[in-house]
Amino acid sequence: MSTTDRELRVGMVGYAFMGAAHSQAWRTVNRVFDLPARARMALICGRDTAKVADAAGRLGWDAHTTDWRELVASDDIDVVDVCTPGDSHAEIALAALAAGKHVLCEKPLANTISEARAMAAAAVTAQAAGVRSMCGFNYRRVPAVAMMRQLVADGRLGVIRHVRATYLQDWIVDPQFPLVWRLQRDRAGSGALGDIGAHIIDLTQYVTGRRITGVSAVTETFVKERPLPAGSSGLAATVDGAAVDGLTAADANGADGHRPATGMVTVDDAAVFVARLDGGVLATYEASRFATGRKNALRVEINGSLGTVAFDLERLNELEFYDATRPAAEQGFSRILVTEGEHPYMSAWWPPGHIIGYEHSFTHQARDFIEAVATGVDPAPSFVDGLQVQLVLDAVTRSAELGSSWTEVEPALTTVAA
Ligand SMILES: NC(=O)c1ccc[n+]([C@@H]2O[C@H](COP(=O)([O-])OP(=O)(O)OC[C@H]3O[C@@H](n4cnc5c(N)ncnc54)[C@H](O)[C@@H]3O)[C@@H](O)[C@H]2O)c1
Repeated sequence: MSTTDRELRVGMVGYAFMGAAHSQAWRTVNRVFDLPARARMALICGRDTAKVADAAGRLGWDAHTTDWRELVASDDIDVVDVCTPGDSHAEIALAALAAGKHVLCEKPLANTISEARAMAAAAVTAQAAGVRSMCGFNYRRVPAVAMMRQLVADGRLGVIRHVRATYLQDWIVDPQFPLVWRLQRDRAGSGALGDIGAHIIDLTQYVTGRRITGVSAVTETFVKERPLPAGSSGLAATVDGAAVDGLTAADANGADGHRPATGMVTVDDAAVFVARLDGGVLATYEASRFATGRKNALRVEINGSLGTVAFDLERLNELEFYDATRPAAEQGFSRILVTEGEHPYMSAWWPPGHIIGYEHSFTHQARDFIEAVATGVDPAPSFVDGLQVQLVLDAVTRSAELGSSWTEVEPALTTVAA
């Protein structure tokens, strides 16, 4: 429970899937963690007056607006939390940094390399004035993932040889699932690659402390044309024959009144790539929205000379650990229940064995962000880290376009300074 009087007034843009997850975090964080500042849920922004008013009441925000520029310019806001699709991240975050607001921006940082470069450069400039920024790769904050990183950093795995990462979903297996914003390049930047592939890129680089230096990739769009949506939020949507902004009349074929209007899918449905990480590590990555039966299956395994560690989001309180330094007769995978007070983040929650869930990663993200802002340090992952992930996404896309040719990933720090 927080004991401070210092407030950080948060303004959040977007109130659907991530808006709800972040609201839960801002609402909870000071009730669980003792922090040097208290988050106040001051202002929420969406484009529809009635819906944003409803969201403000339901999610617990003091006030609402339909204009993110008003939120960014407000003297009563200290933190801007960007929970919109990728096509507005750069514009909102750049305006917020220019207005001196601390920024938490959802992943992937942007839709393009040039946007991500501009955001990283603005964040570096803002640091000098004490303005902080962070990209929302929330899975870093799962206690078992943070512990995985500690095991690697403590040398318990020895020399890292392999990284094996998959992030599998199946929410668009049905070809009649509508053409939501996540399936449009101009809104989302890329498909499974940027949406879920970005998570395993960041997570594996975070856990190993190593950077992806080159990739060879294949991508595929299995269903190339889909019905236009009547409405959508997060990973859910409905279909009818209505037109949708941003799609041309030529995309529609519903004039006979029998078939719903359709549009072309302009992103990947799946991306698979091999990679090298610095230090001689070989890695494989797979991100798909067509893995039938897999709902949100994020798995990472890391093999080193002294051991192996494996994480599965569907069992997020657990870690599998194989310690090859134990006597041969006792070797085997052990299942660590990551709920002890000495495990990352866990001392604030429940007695050992009383497990936590998905939403806690967002509360931990809010905790780390508030602590960094209030104590005047830069939170991680930074916008430069977000740019680095974006450079990997870009390399994967270019490799796939060039018949899987080997494609180097340029370092983000050099890029920002240039
Ligand atoms: N960290 C995670 O695990 C995770 C999970 C899902 C989504 N995301 C990311 O979060 C972001 C949002 O995804 P989502 O699933 O919440 O999408 P969503 O479709 O559920 O919600 C998007 C919200 O943004 C609002 N919005 C869009 N444009 C706007 C504008 N110009 N001004 C004001 N509001 C605007 C919409 O009205 C809606 O409330 C994306 O960048 C996505 O990649 C992250």
